[in-house]
Amino acid sequence: MNVSDSEIVASVLKNAGYGLTHDPLVADVVLINTCAIRENAEQRVRRRLEFFRSRKRKHNPDLRIGVLGCMAERLRGKLLEQERLVDLVIGPDAYRDLPRLLKQVETTGQSAVNVELSREETYAEIAPVRYDSNGISAFVSIMRGCDNMCAFCVVPFTRGRERSRNAGTIVRECQDLFDAGYREITLLGQNVNSYVDGPIDFPTLVDRVSLVSPDLRIRYSTSHPKDCSEALLHVHLERPNVCNFIHLPVQHGNSDVLKRMRRGYTSEDYRELIKRARRICPDLSLSTDIIAGFCEETDAEHQDTLNLMSEIEYDHAFMFMYSERPDTYAARKFQDDVPPEVKKQRLSEIIELQNSISLKKNRQQIGNIHTVLVEGPSKRSDAQFCGRTDTNKMVIFDREMLQPGSYAQVEITDCTSATLFGTVRESSTHF
Ligand code: 5AD
Ligand code: SF4
Repeated sequence: MNVSDSEIVASVLKNAGYGLTHDPLVADVVLINTCAIRENAEQRVRRRLEFFRSRKRKHNPDLRIGVLGCMAERLRGKLLEQERLVDLVIGPDAYRDLPRLLKQVETTGQSAVNVELSREETYAEIAPVRYDSNGISAFVSIMRGCDNMCAFCVVPFTRGRERSRNAGTIVRECQDLFDAGYREITLLGQNVNSYVDGPIDFPTLVDRVSLVSPDLRIRYSTSHPKDCSEALLHVHLERPNVCNFIHLPVQHGNSDVLKRMRRGYTSEDYRELIKRARRICPDLSLSTDIIAGFCEETDAEHQDTLNLMSEIEYDHAFMFMYSERPDTYAARKFQDDVPPEVKKQRLSEIIELQNSISLKKNRQQIGNIHTVLVEGPSKRSDAQFCGRTDTNKMVIFDREMLQPGSYAQVEITDCTSATLFGTVRESSTHF
């Protein structure tokens, strides 16, 4: 989400006459787009700010430093008044105001702030500047904000109310991306299932975007289990280019904890949803988010998370230790009473279990042939290319005569828990 937002910011600034540099040490303005979801994300931002502040002090007194995004929204004036860390503080709905605020800082020498949240802003017609893109995969933002109010989550406070972007501008952006050579779109929102533009709901939008070209792969993130509908699953089934992969964050395997988390489903509801999804799309690949050590979590409740993971066998998971966020429902109502060492122990059990499941699932793929979208050189060697399967698994294979942006039939020959290795059997520009 922040990558996508930064592309919007780059566009706003480009239109105001600013140029982009990839070297922060030659920049006149450094903007840090921040995350507030866990405490350690904020600590990392603080370390980064300290680095730029010391540069400013020692080498470049004219350097302007700005904080954008969720941490700006959460801490607001604090970053300016108490800590005097930055020149600019700009919340996620105020990016259009950046050129004016930068000018204000220039002319007055004073710091500037805009953390107003909006009920309408979707940056609908702004063409993102995809400055760090591989030219093959792009994020397209479709809605902003979240009305869910999960007990642990700061996002509804930092990103405001849900609002959807006009469908016409989304389809046009996807068409433009395809015409420019992109072959994979990830539709982005905090809660994509809540997308609504008049009669167009999320399944309808995915269907429309999938019609841009049969050679354009469609993914989306993030889908809330309580709103993942049959209609959406049918779009996966009926449209070959809508990838056979869903990220469905469960957060926990115990229904009492899910209730405390205010997730709006029980673990039985979730299991039913997965069964239904797998019935409709038999080879569906699944990933999830899991939180270890939420308030008042008992050993038995933690065990329920491990049980659910063993039962569902996710292909991939993002796993976190609970981190209390100020002002959330959980911070106000519950004690963050699981000791840090217990949280750590539970998280490592969760990670260990997931690694063994991922390895087992990847091994099952050995001998199978997957359609892979070729992205470019692999991290380790220029002689090898990498790309993803329809099911969102990274595959490494010999470069041969392949072009990034083409599709290849790759036979899987080996794997780790994180990566597949394969041999190209056939290549094509089509899906
Ligand atoms: N502590 C730990 N993890 C959190 N997440 C959200 N809020 C918190 C928190 N306070 C996780 C959830 C969410 C993912 C993006 O971050 O699992 O799905
Ligand atoms: Fe946070 Fe819940 Fe909204 Fe996801 S759905 S952004 S976890 S409040």
